[in-house]
Amino acid sequence: MLLVDAPLVARREVARGMFVLSLEAPQVAEAVRAGQFVNLGWSPGPLLRRPFSVYRTDGGRIEVILKAVGVGTAHLLHMKPGEMISCLGPLGHGFDFHSPHRGEGEGEGRAERPRSVALVSGGLGVAPMPLAARDARAAGMEVTWVHGARSADELCSEADGDDVIWATDDGSKGFAGTAVDAVPDVDMVLACGPNRMLAAMAMRRPDAQVAVETYMGCGTGVCLGCAVPLVRGGYDRACKEGPVYRGADIEWSMLPSHLPYAISA
Ligand SMILES: Cc1cc2nc3c(=O)[nH]c(=O)nc-3n(C[C@H](O)[C@H](O)[C@H](O)COP(=O)(O)OP(=O)(O)OC[C@H]3O[C@@H](n4cnc5c(N)ncnc54)[C@H](O)[C@@H]3O)c2cc1C
Ligand code: FES
Repeated sequence: MLLVDAPLVARREVARGMFVLSLEAPQVAEAVRAGQFVNLGWSPGPLLRRPFSVYRTDGGRIEVILKAVGVGTAHLLHMKPGEMISCLGPLGHGFDFHSPHRGEGEGEGRAERPRSVALVSGGLGVAPMPLAARDARAAGMEVTWVHGARSADELCSEADGDDVIWATDDGSKGFAGTAVDAVPDVDMVLACGPNRMLAAMAMRRPDAQVAVETYMGCGTGVCLGCAVPLVRGGYDRACKEGPVYRGADIEWSMLPSHLPYAISA
């Protein structure tokens, strides 16, 4: 885990009200894996750092994607190039691209290397997916990008897949329905978005890896503010053991489904 002062270097709009910020943070860029996050702090700013998935890396830069949902995110979006942001990370455990897949019709003990993956996102849940596309390709997989939002202007315009499927609730672009409904038959599913979307994904594909949203305090495993209820009983810390879980392992009924991250997604 690194703690660096990262200058803000660029900003671009990728959907209505949704922006990508680039920070110069070479050591973090080199170390980060898909599904991990950074905890950002700045001064003057909120007392607690704010967690953001790493969206992309570009040389020595990391990118994060966000909308203004409260004080901190609104403040970040008003910052100017050259201003400093304190960056703690990379944090958490990201997606696992090497977990074996059991092929249809194969015997009980036979497990295969996954050859295809769907990256399924709703709204801001697109955040970990460009890095996931990078890491999935490095693991030899064909990537299908499945991105959904309420309407066409809320879809993130940047996509990275061998196949790209858009989904909108109002049918204004691509598949009319949710991203979960649009997922094709693939060996592996990775998903991020509102918790209720992830719960639906887990119902269909219990083996899906999902990056969950929780409240977070410290981001480093100390405060227990990020508890994730588990089916086997007890809790995990999203910032340490997560934020990526196997969908079937989470007790979804006990996880809040209405965090602002979800509402804005
Ligand atoms: C692992 C992880 C990765 C995340 N990645 C992204 C990302 O890539 N892009 C993105 O836009 N958002 C992401 N979020 C959510 C983001 O951290 C919150 O939206 C942000 O902290 C809200 O800060 P704020 O100061 O704008 O809101 P505040 O003014 O603090 O609060 C506004 C509302 O947001 C709630 N809130 C505060 N902290 C969180 C939190 N950690 N998660 C959800 N709700 C919160 C508050 O309860 C309040 O109701 C991520 C969250 C986690 C846990
Ligand atoms: S945010 Fe403090 S333990 Fe996870």
